[in-house]
Amino acid sequence: MRIAAALRLARDGDVRSRLAAARDGQAAVRVAAAAAGLRTGLLDLLGQGPATTSALATRRGWSDESLLESFLQTLAQLGLARTSRGQWQLTRRGRSVLADDVVRAMYEAFDGYHTGLYREVEKQLSGGDGRHDVAENGQLIARLSRAMDPFVTDFLTHQLQTVQPRAVLDIGCGAGSHLVHMLRMAPDASGTGIESDSAAAALARTRVSDEGLAHRAGIVEGDVRQTLGSMTDSFDLVLLANMIYYLPVGERVPLLRAVAERVQRGGTVVVVTTALTDAMFSRHFDLLLRAQTGDMELPTLADLSGQLRAAGLAPGRPRRIAMGEPLAAMMATRP
Ligand SMILES: C[S@@+](CC[C@H](N)C(=O)[O-])C[C@H]1O[C@@H](n2cnc3c(N)ncnc32)[C@H](O)[C@@H]1O
Repeated sequence: MRIAAALRLARDGDVRSRLAAARDGQAAVRVAAAAAGLRTGLLDLLGQGPATTSALATRRGWSDESLLESFLQTLAQLGLARTSRGQWQLTRRGRSVLADDVVRAMYEAFDGYHTGLYREVEKQLSGGDGRHDVAENGQLIARLSRAMDPFVTDFLTHQLQTVQPRAVLDIGCGAGSHLVHMLRMAPDASGTGIESDSAAAALARTRVSDEGLAHRAGIVEGDVRQTLGSMTDSFDLVLLANMIYYLPVGERVPLLRAVAERVQRGGTVVVVTTALTDAMFSRHFDLLLRAQTGDMELPTLADLSGQLRAAGLAPGRPRRIAMGEPLAAMMATRP
């Protein structure tokens, strides 16, 4: 019977492609269902303790209990929820979706702006307007970027030991993780973060103050292309982590030149970026950027090196800092 079915499958279509499509489809369903569990508040509700379907419906004011039961059964098959004696509760994985904000941000982002562009790409291919995902999702992007923190932190730790900075600048500081790390590693240093998204800047301010570093750090809210010009301080370490690709290519050298002017002689500029490579995520991310209003795209490492040089800096060799991922760091010094 099974052999007959397999033979028929092989005759009717491309078995491998069907299996690949089914696997991809199931991953897409998993992301959409988990994101809906978050968006509706159902997972958060389950996080408050065991409850029956009926009690969950009452608490949220939902009228369709049978649809809710089916949704819960799906979350159970995803490994996020389970039922015991008629009461629903989170599994260990479900609890970790709530406890680890990077996991939550991943579901929100991959169900949202990371895939939204594909649903609407045809309009753009026909000359439709560019997207505003980056401008509209600043806080989510800052939260998602924390997934890369361990790699960036590890790289920065080595640089900080070499440079031993007294004044650090974090451009596009997002939620402030790297600024906090640099200040922890350099206890005598002061720090400045520049962040254009007000929600992300607020996250950074809270983070800096929660860490007891507010007396050594300031967050400047604004576009670095404007704010840097009005700054008079100079720094011995400047970080641009995961932000260079938000600038139009033509504005990268002018910005890096303005950065170089704020760096002391012998000081260091560190650029961390996803590089344009043939890795699937790199190509996807580059497409996402190119679909935005504002002329964004990923740099190749050769281009980045040339831009740093054109800005009067002396770049070193790029380093891939996350195994198997196109995340790279490049250090440049001001001669
Ligand atoms: C992907 S996040 C990275 C955050 C952080 N640097 C990190 O690596 O975790 C990029 C951040 O740069 C900010 N940004 C982008 N363009 C900027 C600009 N022109 N001036 C200041 N901040 C900018 C964004 O708002 C966002 O918070």
